[in-house]
Amino acid sequence: MTVKNLQALLDEGVDGRHILVRSDFNVPLNDAGEITDAGRIDASLPTLKALLDGGAKVIVMAHLGRPKGEPNPKYSLSPVAEALSERLGQYVALAADVTGEDAHERANGLTEGEILLLENVRFDPRETSKDEAERGEFADELVALAADNGAFVSDGFGVVHRAQTSVYDVAKRLPSYAGTLVENEVNTLAQVKDAPESPYVVVLGGSKVSDKLGVIEALAGKADKIVIGGGMCYTFLTAQGYNTQKSLLQEEMVDTCKDLLERFGDKIVLPVDLVAASEFAADAERQEVELDAVPEGWMSLDIGPKTAEKYAEVIADSKTVFWNGPMGVFEFANFSQGTKAVAQAMIDATANNGSFTVVGGGDSAASVRTLGLDEAGFSHISTGGGASLEFLEGKELPGVAVLDA
Ligand code: 3PG
Repeated sequence: MTVKNLQALLDEGVDGRHILVRSDFNVPLNDAGEITDAGRIDASLPTLKALLDGGAKVIVMAHLGRPKGEPNPKYSLSPVAEALSERLGQYVALAADVTGEDAHERANGLTEGEILLLENVRFDPRETSKDEAERGEFADELVALAADNGAFVSDGFGVVHRAQTSVYDVAKRLPSYAGTLVENEVNTLAQVKDAPESPYVVVLGGSKVSDKLGVIEALAGKADKIVIGGGMCYTFLTAQGYNTQKSLLQEEMVDTCKDLLERFGDKIVLPVDLVAASEFAADAERQEVELDAVPEGWMSLDIGPKTAEKYAEVIADSKTVFWNGPMGVFEFANFSQGTKAVAQAMIDATANNGSFTVVGGGDSAASVRTLGLDEAGFSHISTGGGASLEFLEGKELPGVAVLDA
């Protein structure tokens, strides 16, 4: 990494200085507003602890969901403040606003080794504005919270692909450093991007083909196999002529899938069987079926057992695996087998074949923990979904590029 890291800041000294930190606390919540996977919070601890131990007055900026630029209690960071307090073993105050009176009072009142979490930065429409002047105005307000001699630490790897105020514009206005998480993520993912050992297998899932087009195009040249499951596979199966009934379908992408199959058909690996469900529900009726046998009016919610076995074999032979996106609706136990099989195959490939296995991002990382798999069995579990994909595609990450060299 060519940018300054946290150690450089700690060496300069943080005692008594206000340090603005951008973390990614975009964690999944259940209907009761409880955090169902705190992986991103756990991953943020090393940087926060190091700063607090150094005597910094830490002000954390983060978002939760997409609240559309206005305060909405549903997207409050309050559960995060609580979870963070528990993990740090110290009180984490949550400001009632982002750059308002309460945030200012609390930031001014911080003493050495104390931490303040600002309310969801996306409660302010300027956070995600396309207008640089608007973002700049908001950035000035955030920077003002840090008083004189402040600094910025970018530690939300999951958001570094967003040129948003708290990720990008703040960094331009303060001495800026990469936090431990961002540094580790970039260095580890660079191994996959720059020198993946062959056979290199990319496993893609998730609901939309359109979200994964860039990565398929970019990685088709490098990867030996691109294994496809999850909601996006039904658009490919439709392109192959199968009627997958009410399974997820991006109609407008069928021709694109046909084109991808023509160009990269030797690399793309698709399901050979499916798990059909009578409806989208955890307790739906369930049937393991051939590709052309999804019952009328049903939908597929997982790859089938033969497919899971086939994918596990491809992964077993690999030396590098990058996986982004669940194979099915893993949140429903009856439709989680495909995702579990792929994840377990990666763990086995790491242990038995010395394969370098990387889980890329939000849902896939959460599925590993939700399904009770051994996190330590993978070479790396990234906290960034979109960010890790864009990085592997070779795109510049604005939130990293902007940091001081
Ligand atoms: C994520 O969950 O991938 C990151 O937190 C970014 O969130 P966003 O896609 O809403 O910008």
